[in-house]
Amino acid sequence: RILILDFGSQVTQLIARRLRESGVYCEVWPFNAAAPERIHAFAPKGLIFSGGPASVTEGASPRAPQEVFEMGLPILGICYGQQTMATQLGGTVEGGHAAEFGRAVVTVTGECTLTQGLWAKGATETVWMSHGDRITVLPPGFRVVAESEGAPFALIADESRHYYGTMFHPEVVHTPHGAALLKNFTHGVCGCTGDWTMAGFRDEAIERIRAKVGKGRVICGLSGGVDSSVAAVLIHEAVGDQLTCIYVDHGLMRANESDQVVATFRDRFNIKLIHRDASDLFLGQLSGVTDPEQKRKIIGRLFIEVFEEEQNKLGGADFLAQGTLYPDVIESVSATGGPSVTIKSHHNVGGLPEGMRMQLVEPLRDLFKDEVRALGRELGIPEEIVGRHPFPGPGLAIRIPGEVTREKADLLRKVDSIYLEEIRAAGLYDAIWQAFAVLLPVRTVGVMGDGRTYDMACALRAVTSTDGMTAEFYPYDMGFLGRVANRIVNEVRGVNRVTYDITSKPPGTIEWE
Ligand code: XMP
Repeated sequence: RILILDFGSQVTQLIARRLRESGVYCEVWPFNAAAPERIHAFAPKGLIFSGGPASVTEGASPRAPQEVFEMGLPILGICYGQQTMATQLGGTVEGGHAAEFGRAVVTVTGECTLTQGLWAKGATETVWMSHGDRITVLPPGFRVVAESEGAPFALIADESRHYYGTMFHPEVVHTPHGAALLKNFTHGVCGCTGDWTMAGFRDEAIERIRAKVGKGRVICGLSGGVDSSVAAVLIHEAVGDQLTCIYVDHGLMRANESDQVVATFRDRFNIKLIHRDASDLFLGQLSGVTDPEQKRKIIGRLFIEVFEEEQNKLGGADFLAQGTLYPDVIESVSATGGPSVTIKSHHNVGGLPEGMRMQLVEPLRDLFKDEVRALGRELGIPEEIVGRHPFPGPGLAIRIPGEVTREKADLLRKVDSIYLEEIRAAGLYDAIWQAFAVLLPVRTVGVMGDGRTYDMACALRAVTSTDGMTAEFYPYDMGFLGRVANRIVNEVRGVNRVTYDITSKPPGTIEWE
């Protein structure tokens, strides 16, 4: 295993991704949470210092704990990580030189374990840089392996102590040999074997859950989404009937989704499942409400109320399972700080209701989203669930701008299922991050046969994204859109107009509310 110390780079998580892709388990810790005792207990085979937004030339900029240089462990410093390592080992870093951002070319002037089999002496290689400062005096013991115009010390090495530093970012895909350089570090220098697999993770996770839960009772809020589904099946494998799942059905799911959840978990996996149909309650309380934040708050509150009610009927439990993922766990050390604006109050089905006195079981907290999917496949969860697009906790309520009614939800379900059916038939589902329909609060005039119609309009949305933070609209071909629109208008009575949303995020958000 490898420990990554995070100095706040936007791409630190990518280092972890690249390592895990090569079968090496790793964790990301904030640089200031890495007390030497903690590092010893974690027992890594090597350390990686990430990049970061600070400048080591500033007085109070972050440093690695000085003790790590006495542990005899290999260290790779990337960008800011290289600079802080150089400074802490007696070199000099200066600001004010020409900054390099984006693609850059380095000339390989030497050899080291990192470049073995990849970069030959004398070759030029493309890398991705993002820095303003640079090293001007190397710390003792180091030599240069590659240089660029803006960074004479683009890659440095002290092979006797197994210390390496890169000015560029090997973790991003824009550095073509980056992943292989990282592998040379983890496998070649640190001696990792790359035997971390999902099957291994699954067995370890099951053991950990058993050790933690003992004979206790576990409750899991199921939403039909990937994370809570995988968490539930994994916990069920570990402790069987000690687990009860509660599925609070707010009546704002897509067509057939509730039936599918029940069929999958109760019938196929034999998991104890309480399916609480609370659609009357939710729709009743949403009646007359048009403000998006108001809708979210009502749904969030009701969800907790109903969940607690069901849990009390069960006589409580000792543990609450949550599908928390690694990106939520990694503490951000971004330098931006300051108060940020709430764009939307996200609500997660399965979230921990405040004031519940239960211990948490979070078996996915070491995994990234696609690793959770891989684990789900390992557990035999059907592809329709494991590969499912993200779906917001408040469900269709935030895809019906204006007042939400059962009639509108039914209409939207029909539109949405035709749209998704066509996406699947065209083989586009996996190329899209998220696709859905929105029922617009406007009526428009149309003509069908010889008659006039005055019905509702809908919008279709599809975006590509890697994390939901930014997104691009999906560039369908017009033939596809025409086919979908035609089917919707002909098959869904009450909808007579279809539009396609071509807004990216930012400035739009993915959902309409
Ligand atoms: P936005 O609309 O903010 O959405 O661009 C980004 C991603 O988050 C999902 N989303 C939610 N997920 N509860 C959730 O669990 C919510 O309240 C919620 N609101 C938005 C959205 O579907 C997209 O994937």
